[in-house]
Amino acid sequence: MDVEREKRVAAEAAAELVESGMTVGLGTGSTVAYLLPALAKRSLDIVCAATSPRTEHAARELGLRIEDVTSIDRFDITIDGADQIAPDGWLVKGGGGAHSREKIVAGAADRFVVIADSSKPVDALHAPVPLELLSFGLRATLRLVEPAALRDVPHSPDGGVIADYQGAVEDPAALAIQLSTTPGVVAHGLFPPQMVAMAFIGRGESAERIDFGG
Ligand code: A5P
Repeated sequence: MDVEREKRVAAEAAAELVESGMTVGLGTGSTVAYLLPALAKRSLDIVCAATSPRTEHAARELGLRIEDVTSIDRFDITIDGADQIAPDGWLVKGGGGAHSREKIVAGAADRFVVIADSSKPVDALHAPVPLELLSFGLRATLRLVEPAALRDVPHSPDGGVIADYQGAVEDPAALAIQLSTTPGVVAHGLFPPQMVAMAFIGRGESAERIDFGG
């Protein structure tokens, strides 16, 4: 499976950036699933925090030390997957509905590193853009972010409703501001380049590193 191999080589390349003594943010998703064993195999003295119950469970099973994220105010590095990666470093995340937590842990990191297979780079970002919305006033919020659709998935672990913005993404910065300033939107899946230090993209047997300077 080429895609699975690409996810693995990207995850393994990112795992090499981690050193003993670091506090590490762990993302969520099928690419991060390859990161966890790659990290565990290195037997480093690290403290990790997870962005989802799924990642937390898998990390603990592999013997990684997981701390409650509420006790951590910064991360040396956070490593996570992405759904879309634009040439200028804008990302769409949240295919698994974990983007609110992922954005907090990415934003608190000295280096946020993206890992992905070669299907994730895109020429330009496009819908869907994942949203997490408060239940309170849900219909009103949905009207303000039209066109948008509720996703048929359970609420987030923080009680948020997962939906997707379905409109055009011509100007990610403008759309990010619009969504961020809409009452009832907890978080959206647009991550700006200023947040992203680098990406590892699996291509065949090796990982291409792209620096974004965030
Ligand atoms: C989780 O909500 C997402 O942000 C994931 O990080 C993103 O969807 C990438 O997932 P995969 O690694 O499974 O493609």
